[in-house]
This record gives sequence, structure tokens and C-alpha cells, in this order.
Amino acid sequence: MQTMTDQKLAIHGGKPIIPSDLTFKMWPEIGPDDEALVLASLRQSSHASGPHVKLLGEEFAAWNGNKHCRPTNSGTSALQMCVAGCGVQAGDEVITTALSWTSSATCIIHHNAIPVFVDADWETMHIDPKCIEAAITPQTKAILVVHYFGVACDMDAIMAIAKKHDLAVIEDACQAHGATFNGKKVGTIGHAGAFSLNQNKNLCGGEGGFFVTNDQAIFDRGCAIGGFSDMRPADSGRDYHTHGLGWMYSTTDLNAAFALGQLRKLDKTNAQARANWHQLDDLLTDTPNLIRPYSTEHRPTNGYAYILRVDPAYAQKRGVALTDLTNAISLASTAEGLPLSRANWLLPAHTIFQVKDAYGKGSPWSDGHCKRDVDYNLDQYPLAQQCVDTCLWNVFKHRPPNGEAQIQAFAGAIRKVFENLDDVTVEQK
Ligand SMILES: Cc1ncc(COP(=O)(O)O)c(C=O)c1O
Repeated sequence: MQTMTDQKLAIHGGKPIIPSDLTFKMWPEIGPDDEALVLASLRQSSHASGPHVKLLGEEFAAWNGNKHCRPTNSGTSALQMCVAGCGVQAGDEVITTALSWTSSATCIIHHNAIPVFVDADWETMHIDPKCIEAAITPQTKAILVVHYFGVACDMDAIMAIAKKHDLAVIEDACQAHGATFNGKKVGTIGHAGAFSLNQNKNLCGGEGGFFVTNDQAIFDRGCAIGGFSDMRPADSGRDYHTHGLGWMYSTTDLNAAFALGQLRKLDKTNAQARANWHQLDDLLTDTPNLIRPYSTEHRPTNGYAYILRVDPAYAQKRGVALTDLTNAISLASTAEGLPLSRANWLLPAHTIFQVKDAYGKGSPWSDGHCKRDVDYNLDQYPLAQQCVDTCLWNVFKHRPPNGEAQIQAFAGAIRKVFENLDDVTVEQK
């Protein structure tokens, strides 16, 4: 790729490297097959748990290799079903990563249990297995790992710790459809798993999710809280009796029909997303001060997101705060025609954990079931914090139907900004 060092940055009045007539196409691509399924759903009469919901659950279970799969209305609800299914109860502790989307922790609180965060590994940005054992207490019941950014966690290490301490493992695979660990698909390695069908996931149904497991008892307990807490025996008929607290987490036939069309081409769209991801990665090789995302032969990306990080050593050398530098890169890249997002994914920093109040009056930490003063001091998560401070990402622009032209433009904008990083003005807060 041609070097960009002689080009003036667009934030300083230079010409944006991405031409204004280049369009990044939206995800997902909708074809006549999707339209036919959605019309078929409308033209039949079971609009709640109808035939497409049944097909979607069966086909995803077969695709992923799970015995049981319940389509849900979101990944968040599927995660709560995992927590309930694994027998976690009020005041029990669940260990999870400090770096994730909020639902990875709030799903634990939704079941009146207590999240305990551990730091992330710098290289992968996943939960660091080395930190897990120190966080285990007599109240710990499960480890909830997040296959963040479409790459599997170190499942051998995590499963070994879980086995040694008799803990359940819940896989948050909401971003990771088709990601594998040593050839095994995520969502089949731990005791239960959750996927999301939200718009920006590799499998889009608008909104929706899957609760998966190979264990009948976990499945029954999880499904019960997702269906008004319906714990009646399978042969008892509908007795309209509430045996415990539950929610309504079903999806609709129309949503399921949309997701089904996308599922049937998921192998193809995943392969395209991966190929684009790798092409982008190749084009960005040796870009100065850029840390490219993790993906290896044993833990390959599913092509979900291309996550960029600026080398913290560069910020230190320039004497600027890492987060200020990352903000400045985001502005410079946007000016070149490539908006990049930032977010504070450091979960323990969120107000709910800092004030320890989810339901009011300090509940569930104050309910009496929580046996100790769980510490959410942010000094415990330096690497997760560093990931947040340096992370920039885009989840759509490398996905199909985008191809060669868009990938070249994406790489060109990043290379131009990073090759001229000394010229990027950093506003110090
Ligand atoms: C890692 C992770 N977990 C859970 C969720 C929740 O999924 P949903 O939005 O379908 O509730 C998301 C969605 O963004 C996610 O990225």
C-alpha cells in the first residue's frame, strides 16, 4: 500500500482520503429469500411461538451443535436464562469480565445475584483466566465469559478452573456466532450460552437471541424464567399457576422468520466478513503505532468487528493522555470519511456498581443474601481500563455486501491517520 506520510490530514484542511461518492453498504443484506420467509410468516396464523420460531430454534441448534436452543427476544434475556438455568440464586456470586457490554453483568443482577469483576488480558481483551481463581469465594456459583469482538476466550484454562472449583460456565456469545476455540463452536463448550440477534450482530433478526445448552435440567430452569416461570410438569397441561417469578422472553414468528432467512446464509456471510476482516488486517500490517486485533488459528475471528488500538507507548512518548489521543484519532478518522466509535466498556465503572444500587435501597447488594462487601474499586482493572482508553472500532464497514473498494478505503483512512499521528492535534482534558 502506498505510504500516506506526504498527505495533509482532513482535520487540517486536506482532502479526505475516502471519496464522497464511495458508499459503505448497510448490514445485513436482505434478499428475496428473506422477503419470502417474512411474507410466509405473515400469511399464516400463529404469530407468537409459530412455525418459524420452532424452525429457527431447531436450525440454530443444528448449526451450532447444541442439543437445546430456545429463541428469545434478546441476547440479554438469553443471558439471564443461562444464569437461572445454571442454578444461580439470590446473593450468589458470578465472576465475569470487567470489559464488556452492560448485559454481561446486568443479567446477573436481573437474577438477584452479584457480579464480581476480574481484569481483562491486554492482548485478547477477554477475561484473564489468571485472575479468575483469586476472585472465587464460597459464594461463587458460575463464571460468565464473554467471547468479545467475535473471538473465543481461552476456554481450556477457563473450563479447568471451573472443574476444579465445581462452577458452571456461561458463555456470552452474543457477538460470536461461528467463533471457535480449537475447532469447537462457542456456545457448546461451557454449560450454557447466549447469542444475540440484534441488528449489528453477525446473525441479524432486528432484535432477538438464543439460549443454548446441552443439559436438559439447565434448559428447563432457564426456559421457565423466560416463560412466566412456568415450572409445570411437561404432561400437566396448562394450569395457569405461577410457581415462581418469571418474565416473558419469547420472540415472535415474524422476527423468527427474518432471523431464519439470515441464519440460512450465515456460513456464507461469516466467510465474507472474515475474508474482508483479514484483507483489512493485511493492509494494516506494519502501520506505525497501531495495535491490530487478536485472531489466531486456534481462536479465529468470526469477522464481527475490527477493533483498533493505539499503542499506549506512543501516548506516553508524546506526553498526552491515552484517552485524549484516542478521541483525537477518532476525530481525524471521521474527517477522512471513516467514523470510528468509542465507548466506556469498563463495567465496574458504571454507576450501578459504583453506588451498588440496581433496584433501589441498595438491592441486591443490601438484601441480606450478599454475604460480603464486594469491592468494585477501579484500581483492580488496569488492563481493561487501558483497553477502553485505547479502543476504536467499527462493526459494519468491513461486513458484506461491502468488499474490495470499501476495505481499501477503510485501510487507507486508518493508514493515513496513523502514519501522520504526530500531526493529529490532541486536546488535553
Ligand atoms: C457481549 C454482549 N453481550 C450481551 C449483549 C446483549 O444482547 P442484546 O442486545 O440482544 O440484548 C450484547 C449486545 O450488544 C453484547 O454485545
